[in-house]
Amino acid sequence: MKNIKVDFKNARVFEKNVMEYTDKVAEIHKKLHSKAEKKDEFCGWLDLPTNYDKKEFEKIKKSAEKIQKDSDVLLVIGIGGSYLGARAVIESLTNTFYNMQEKETRKLPQILYVGNNLSPNYIMDLIDYISDKDISINVISKSGTTTEPAIAFRIFREILENKYSLKEARERIYITTDKRKGALKELAKKEKYTTFVIPDNIGGRYSVLTAVGLLPIAVAGIDIDELMKGAKFAQDRYSDENLKYNECYKYAVLRNVLYEKEKNIELLVTYEPKMHYFIEWWKQLFGESEGKEQKGIYPSGAEFTTDLHSLGQYIQEGRRNLFETVINIEKSQRDLTLKKEEEDLDNLNYLEGKSLSYINKKAMEGTITAHVDGDVPNIVINMEKLDANNIGQLIYFFELACAMSGEILGVNPFNQPGVEKYKTNMFKLLGKTK
Ligand code: PA5
Repeated sequence: MKNIKVDFKNARVFEKNVMEYTDKVAEIHKKLHSKAEKKDEFCGWLDLPTNYDKKEFEKIKKSAEKIQKDSDVLLVIGIGGSYLGARAVIESLTNTFYNMQEKETRKLPQILYVGNNLSPNYIMDLIDYISDKDISINVISKSGTTTEPAIAFRIFREILENKYSLKEARERIYITTDKRKGALKELAKKEKYTTFVIPDNIGGRYSVLTAVGLLPIAVAGIDIDELMKGAKFAQDRYSDENLKYNECYKYAVLRNVLYEKEKNIELLVTYEPKMHYFIEWWKQLFGESEGKEQKGIYPSGAEFTTDLHSLGQYIQEGRRNLFETVINIEKSQRDLTLKKEEEDLDNLNYLEGKSLSYINKKAMEGTITAHVDGDVPNIVINMEKLDANNIGQLIYFFELACAMSGEILGVNPFNQPGVEKYKTNMFKLLGKTK
């Protein structure tokens, strides 16, 4: 197992400007770790790879096995931090066409997501799609009151109850929510659904390594022990308060140094389409954690080379307020080599014998040089391969970097007061009374 490594050589920041933050980082490190020990602070994710509830973990595995045996489809109902982490891990670590594969090939349930929008088209199309399939539902909501998943659950619970006996429907519903409070908790208690707990001291977007993410991830056949091992590996590796020896904190500091130089948009870049939802998860993690009090780096994402043909022009020559963080996966799990053709009509014979992963890598190297030349500072996060261990490391790396970066910026990285604004207006327009 190799650890992820960060390359700052093209960040266009002087080492001394980073090291000026040494004392501040050590102070924040202590503050975060002292909060991790408290039940009423939102830093439980810090020690989670060591302290996670082993009994709950076994229960997750058991439920996952049951769902794998009795379901064609697992519906994951949740929004924001209550589904993005699961989707990020599942899509990164399964076949690109997992959900489209024949059942015989996939052997495991399809994982479909709902309750993350209010589109009637989406819901109706999903209802049609699952009509002849055996389904289980995992509803995930920490508050237990979020409108989008609550509506989806009402709709799909009825479908389940019409399809199966009431008893069987109940056995196909899995609830992940708060230990004590919320409408969902009440419902789960009344109907005796299998329930998983989201620890009090872990907020939505930091919760992927709790049952929130782990149950759907396990249903998709991903090794959750290895995921936790990777996170634990990162927990140990980034436990040094000394900025000099902590790459995760260096990344957090660099972001802030760049921000002060008016680089207020970060583009997280992947050359692997499987990482699309990982970027979505990252956008939510940093967006909700830092974007407050009129401050914060805007977290944006891109998939190259695809987006080089849409955003590439802007990145190269548009407003110079961007910096780029590239996730470089060193070894591709699968590969193929280009062959020579007798008639070189497409002029590609110069690539004879070259693998696609090599060509992709050269595209990455060429793009980094071009963007750095164009005054887009660049950071590269190197990971050996796309597997559960590396993704576990990457999750922990970003969670910790996000908390550190938000604290350096001077905001609370664990709340999201701004999200309430649209809800208040929507509820008023809909005439909600309680
Ligand atoms: O990170 C967060 O706290 C949010 O994105 C929540 O996860 C999201 O709003 C869903 O909330 P809940 O799990 O309470 O339904």
